[in-house]
Amino acid sequence: MAALPRIAVLASGRGSNLQAILDAIAGGRLDAEVAGVFGDRPDAMALARVAPELAWSRDARGYADRAAFDAEIADAVAASRPDWIVLAGYMRILGDVFLSRFRGRVLNIHPSLLPAHRGLRTHARAIAAGDAEHGASVHFVVPELDAGAVIAQARVPVLPGDTAESLAARVLELEHPLLVGVLRLAVAGRIAERGATVELDGHPLFTPLQLGSTLDPRVLP
Ligand code: GAR
Repeated sequence: MAALPRIAVLASGRGSNLQAILDAIAGGRLDAEVAGVFGDRPDAMALARVAPELAWSRDARGYADRAAFDAEIADAVAASRPDWIVLAGYMRILGDVFLSRFRGRVLNIHPSLLPAHRGLRTHARAIAAGDAEHGASVHFVVPELDAGAVIAQARVPVLPGDTAESLAARVLELEHPLLVGVLRLAVAGRIAERGATVELDGHPLFTPLQLGSTLDPRVLP
């Protein structure tokens, strides 16, 4: 039997997206294995979701600069021999030191309908902007923050009376199937980054896939 595709996960916090990956693997919905979980905060809950030998963390505050930390986490990630690297609630910007080694294999899940609301506090900003719709995006990671080619999105309505918390919860529920759906495509070798564009099955994707249509894990082979 061929070796399973290996996914390295970078996480800084709770790790519910990591848990969705682990559950999909355990449930036979994602043919892959988690190669390691890598963190910049040793107390992150995400790290405790895998066996200790799969968890790596260092406190990023102990490093002289971003490049020094990025070089060390990049070495650890490389040693896990990943096929894909997923930023699942990883709250540090990754610079060239990291991306020059893994570019084209790094995916991020971001809680907005990119290109809207790059950066932090996306839910509060969507409400403040009066957006009718909000959601999450999975994209290839490039050095510019939240600027890489978008592979897929999930949309939710912004409801009257929504708070940042209620909206975040509605988005998070869809983040999990969104991320797993994209990873199913990734490990099957069906998506690739070509400059600023995503290719799906060798054809350019001019608009992101939408959860609930082609991305729905139940309708994918
Ligand atoms: C998720 O909502 C993810 O989209 C967001 O952090 C949360 C992590 O939740 N990521 C970012 O904001 C990245 N800029 P989790 O730790 O439960 O997966």
